[in-house]
Amino acid sequence: MKELWYVLGGMAVFFLGFSTFVYPSIEHKGGGYSSACVGECYEQLKINREISKQKAIELAAYNEANGIVVVEADPGEKLWGGCMGCHGVNGEGGLGPQLQGQTFDYISNRLITYKRRGTVGSQSNMMWSQASALSDQDITAVSRFISEKL
Ligand code: HEC
Repeated sequence: MKELWYVLGGMAVFFLGFSTFVYPSIEHKGGGYSSACVGECYEQLKINREISKQKAIELAAYNEANGIVVVEADPGEKLWGGCMGCHGVNGEGGLGPQLQGQTFDYISNRLITYKRRGTVGSQSNMMWSQASALSDQDITAVSRFISEKL
């Protein structure tokens, strides 16, 4: 019975120590989460955002002055990165069918069908999750990339 009191006493000391020393210092530091970025942290965040905005303006001015043309990455190409594991790097086919050589309409119609959980072949369920992650603009972008660049 004595041991029980030792344990309870130990626990009481622990909680007292935790709530007086440890807990207030956690709160003070905001726990290190960005959602708790207030006060000083928020001021710094605003400054950093201003600096990156300024840097982007400077870079654009530099590029213009030196005749550098920046080509924006094709959003369709980025999306294709998530498809080539199954359809082959150049759309030549693999686990999924060949897509190279298909038209824009063919590809986008298939993707719209999959997005609505429609069945095309026997493995359509594999494409349901893929297509459900694509917005309408994504479908247009990735279909254009496959039909024009592969
Ligand atoms: C996990 C493997 C996998 C991934 C990743 C994948 N696909 Fe597929 N895809 C398949 C399979 C398997 C089929 C055949 C489905 C069927 O039987 O209807 C298919 C079918 C298709 C078809 C129809 C082809 C035809 O001739 O009927 C299109 C279009 C397509 N995929 C586009 C894409 C695009 C675009 C992406 C990337 C956003 C993608 N897929 C990602 C496996 C995959």
